[in-house]
Amino acid sequence: MKTSIKKIDCSYNLEDNRIIDKLAGVLCFEEPEMIKKSKEFWNDWFSNKIEGDKITIVTEKTNKDNKQSLIGVVRFWKTPYCNNKWLIEGLEVIATERRKGIGRTMVKYGLDILRKSGIEKISVHIRNTNIPSIRLHKSLGFVKVSLGAIDSFGEFNENIDEYILLLKETW
Ligand SMILES: CC(C)(COP(=O)(O)OP(=O)(O)OC[C@H]1O[C@@H](n2cnc3c(N)ncnc32)[C@H](O)[C@@H]1OP(=O)(O)O)[C@@H](O)C(=O)NCCC(=O)NCCS
Repeated sequence: MKTSIKKIDCSYNLEDNRIIDKLAGVLCFEEPEMIKKSKEFWNDWFSNKIEGDKITIVTEKTNKDNKQSLIGVVRFWKTPYCNNKWLIEGLEVIATERRKGIGRTMVKYGLDILRKSGIEKISVHIRNTNIPSIRLHKSLGFVKVSLGAIDSFGEFNENIDEYILLLKETW
């Protein structure tokens, strides 16, 4: 089994819907009833109906029979709904592939891209019960800066805390 990480460009040809199907499959592997909604989201994301700069990172797995499947995804978004800050969103690794370093490697891959573009401050909003994600981000140098957070569409949620990584100081 081989895994590879790559960035998907927002200018991706939407007529080729296979990538949208695969991405929706990753996010909805535990909730297949959400696939339709998820596909709509990915279409909006790649077609820029959702505004703001975006980076999409995926991990692809090649099986013994040479078949490829997506096993992880994370998005980086400079959201106009949240003071134009760069947010890490939608991090997901399918359940059977967790705890193998895939989540951390994808986040780090995106952070490297942002760092090379001179972006210094990256935030992530994490539900305060989500220990795996909190530990993952702390291991990359994120620190908690607030209890509760305005979500990426501008709503305050007291169960979601904000973590920030200051690239200049920590890398
Ligand atoms: C959070 C998530 C993406 C982590 O992905 P992953 O590929 O399993 O994570 P990694 O293997 O890269 O783990 C990196 C670090 O995170 C922490 N971590 C990951 N899973 C953990 C778990 N189940 N329990 C405790 N710590 C955990 C550990 O510190 C780990 O480092 P270590 O293995 O050296 O101890 C995955 O659990 C997931 O998809 N969860 C559901 C969706 C979700 O909650 N997304 C985050 C939204 S903010």
